Amino acid sequence: MKLAIVKERRAGELRVAASPDTVKRLKGLGLEIAIEAGAGAGASFTDKAYEDAGAVILGDAAAALADADIVLKVQRPLSPAEGGPDELSLMKKGAALIGLLAPYQNRDQLRSYAARGIMAFAMELVPRISRAQSMDVLSSQANLAGYRAVLDGATEFGHALPMMMTAAGTVPPARVMIFGVGVAGLQAIATAKRLGAIVSATDVRPATKEQVESLGGTFVAVMDEEFQQAQTAGGYAKEMSESYKQKQAALIAETIKKQDIAICTALIPGRPAPVLISEEMVKSMKPGSVIVDLAVEAGGNCPLSEPGKVVVKHGVTLVGHLNVPSRIAVDASALYSKNLLNFLTPMIDKDTKLLKIDANDEIVKGTLLTRDGAVVHSAFVSA
Ligand code: NAI
Repeated sequence: MKLAIVKERRAGELRVAASPDTVKRLKGLGLEIAIEAGAGAGASFTDKAYEDAGAVILGDAAAALADADIVLKVQRPLSPAEGGPDELSLMKKGAALIGLLAPYQNRDQLRSYAARGIMAFAMELVPRISRAQSMDVLSSQANLAGYRAVLDGATEFGHALPMMMTAAGTVPPARVMIFGVGVAGLQAIATAKRLGAIVSATDVRPATKEQVESLGGTFVAVMDEEFQQAQTAGGYAKEMSESYKQKQAALIAETIKKQDIAICTALIPGRPAPVLISEEMVKSMKPGSVIVDLAVEAGGNCPLSEPGKVVVKHGVTLVGHLNVPSRIAVDASALYSKNLLNFLTPMIDKDTKLLKIDANDEIVKGTLLTRDGAVVHSAFVSA
């Protein structure tokens, strides 16, 4: 069977869906690997490195995709309306497409996959069960985004983060507050601590209190009865009541005035991101403070942050970079590629070296969008 990797063509996407390391391992599964020339350039993986790992380098996307039984992507294929090659039409009927397909935001595209007879798997839908931890792209990418967000904040901030005692005077340590203590938030706490900042963090899930404290941060939250119930069975946060939101806002208003950098990572699955830092709160912050809004693509934790822009409002710099994992493209690609390898490995029959999809497997059920010309995922069957 042939597996193809093409260059990611969406604006700002530097990641690639295979590393030389995973190419070697994919070869080990009995697959032939075709890579479009230059596919790894954004992540510093050279064609030579891929070739040394056993891949064949082909001149363009059409050549790489022709006859491919499996296509690994970072982002969903370009549609004809978006310019560039119509990646879907270059794929062979019945091929498996595995990537971050953003199905909830692109329901129409599911019909195109079905119409082309593509077997499409959305990696962001991998269930968060123990067996699938090594395939969890949301975690691998959010972890790096949390790290990068602190560096982006530090870069925009006109002060140092650690305390420095010098002959010319003492530089005080910066105060960094993290909003939302999921995967990105935990890494942001650890990174800000390593840089020497005084770190605090807030979340609505009780389990996060101990996690924040174990990383040396101070936990700040309204810990009432609603807070004790805020975690869903799936481990995510619920949308909080109006009265909780008011109490939370009062506490944040008091705390934020003293902060230098806020890192916003709070998300609620399937809902707009909660607004945690209002315009009034921004106004109360010290001039030169920085807010990095990792939630900007879901509407933002601060209404003043703008997607894809760094703006200054009321003397505060608001950082709204999109696709933050791509800003650390080498590691993001390496970990993402490993997630894909771990996802694909159980689907390759050890004897025949062919794809063997178990439609009853929990991971397959969770991720498979289309098959045999139809939308098959329970969340999208009427799409
Ligand atoms: P996420 O990206 O959906 O949300 C980030 C954080 O924002 C969460 O901690 C959430 O509680 C918080 N948040 C939501 N609303 C808030 C509000 N109003 N105020 C303050 N904070 C708010 O979450 P992520 O990072 O995907 O992880 C969620 C949970 O899933 C964590 O407990 C994590 O440990 C767990 N998890 C489990 C995995 C597994 O079992 N395989 C893998 C990865 C994560």
